[in-house]
Amino acid sequence: MPHDIHFSPLCNELAAKAREIADKHVRPLASKYDKLQEYNFDAARAVAAAGLFKTFIPKEYGGSGAGLLALARVTEELAKADSGFGVAFAVNALGSFPILVGGTEAQKQRWLPSVARGEKMVAFCLSEKFAGSDASGLAVRAVEDGDHWVISGEKKWTTNGGVADIYSVFCVTDPNSKSRRISAIVVEKGTPGFSVKKVENKMGIRCVPVVETHFDNVRVPKANLIGERPGMGFKHAMQTLDLARPGVAAQAVGAAQGALDLANVYANRRQQFGVPISNHQMVQKMLADMAMKTDAARWLVYAAAAGVESGSPMTSKMAAMAKCFATDVAMEVATDAVQVFGGYGFMEDYPIAKYFRDAKILQIYEGTNQIQRMVIARHLIKEVADLEHLQAYIPQETQQTYTGAAAITQTRSTASTAS
Ligand code: CAA
Repeated sequence: MPHDIHFSPLCNELAAKAREIADKHVRPLASKYDKLQEYNFDAARAVAAAGLFKTFIPKEYGGSGAGLLALARVTEELAKADSGFGVAFAVNALGSFPILVGGTEAQKQRWLPSVARGEKMVAFCLSEKFAGSDASGLAVRAVEDGDHWVISGEKKWTTNGGVADIYSVFCVTDPNSKSRRISAIVVEKGTPGFSVKKVENKMGIRCVPVVETHFDNVRVPKANLIGERPGMGFKHAMQTLDLARPGVAAQAVGAAQGALDLANVYANRRQQFGVPISNHQMVQKMLADMAMKTDAARWLVYAAAAGVESGSPMTSKMAAMAKCFATDVAMEVATDAVQVFGGYGFMEDYPIAKYFRDAKILQIYEGTNQIQRMVIARHLIKEVADLEHLQAYIPQETQQTYTGAAAITQTRSTASTAS
C-alpha cells in the first residue's frame, strides 16, 4: 500500500546536520576505529550537540518529534560514511522503543529526556546464546522479591554494551505462561551484579561494541518493569522491531550509497586499456545496477518509515520488506563495489573492503532476512482474504488443491532460519 512520503523542513535539516557530522567526524576516522575496534565518542558528542538523538524521541519527552522518516534519513547519512557508526547511533532508538511503546508516562519521563539530550546511551537486550531468531525462547529469568525484580542469566550480542547507560532487558517473568511469559525490565549501568563480559571480535561494524551482558542476581525496583504489568514483553519486543527495522534498512541504504560513491570515483580514476574503467561497458553495467538497486531500496525504506510512522496496519510487513530488501541490496552493492576496485578492493589499504565486511551483518541482525521473509509471507497469506474476487479466475482443477493459508500456518514453527 503506497504511503505519502513527506520530508518536513525539520527532517531535511536533521539529515543535513547528519551529513556534515559524517563528513567531518565519522568518515575521516572510520578506518582508525575499525582497526582499533573502538567507539567514536567524538562523533557521538557531535551527534548529541547537533540534537540528533532527539530525532526519535517525541517532544513531550524532550525530543524533537521528528519521527521515523527523519530517523531513517539521519541514519542513512551517518551509515554512508561508516555503517558501524550508523548502528552505533540507531541502536539508541532500538533500545528506547520498548520504553516508548510499552512504558508508563512516568517511565518515559524518567528515562527518555536524558537519551534525547545525548547524555545517556541505550542498548536492547533480547538475544541469548540459545534464543536468536526464536525470540520467545528466552532463558534470562526475573523473579519477584518484595519491591524488586531479581534478574539472572546472560544476554548475547548486546550492541552498544558497555557504552550504554540504559539497557532494555527482556526476561522470563512467568515461565508457566505461554503468551505472557516475557517482560522487559530496565537495568541501568552500575547496578550491582550487572556486567559486560565477552566483547565480540567482529568481521564488520567494528567501531561499535557488541558484547555479552551478564546478570548475576541483579536487583532492580519493580518500577523498572516496562509497562503497568508483567507479561507484555514479547509484544513490546515485536512492536519495537517493527519500529526499528526501517532504521536498519536506512543503515543499509547509506552503506550501499557509500560503497557506490567510492566505486564510482574509483572507476573514473582507474585506467586500464588506456581509458578510465568507467568507459568499459561491463563496468558501466555494474555501476548502473548498483545505482538502480540503491535507489529502489531507498524509496522502499522511506515509504516503510512513513507507513510505520502513520500506524499503518501493514506496519510489520512494510518494516520487514524494507529491512530485507535494503540489506540484501547493501550486500550486493558492496560486493560489486569490491569487484569494481578489482585486486585493490580486496586490500584493507582501500576503504571498500570495510563496506563489504560491514554489509554482512545487516542481513542478520534485527531479524535475519529469512525471518523477514517469513513475516512478509504470513502477511500475504492474511491478505488472501481480501482477494476472494480473484478466485473466479483460477481454473477449477487447481482450486481443489488450494491449501495456501493452512500450508503456511503449518510451517510457521519450522521456518528455516540462520540465527
Ligand atoms: N506486533 C505486535 N504483536 C506481535 C507482533 C507484532 N509485530 N508479532 C507477533 N506479535 C504477537 C502475536 O500477536 C502473538 O500474540 P498472542 O500471544 O497474544 O496471540 C505473539 O506476539 C506471538 O506471535 P507469533 O506466534 O507470531 O510469534 P513467533 O514465536 O512465531 O515468532 C517471529 C515471531 C517473527 C519469528 C519473532 O520471534 C521474531 O521477530 N524473531 C526475530 C528476532 C529478532 O529480530 N531478533 C533481533 C534482535 S535485536 C538485534 O539484532 C539488534 C542489534 O544487535 C543491533
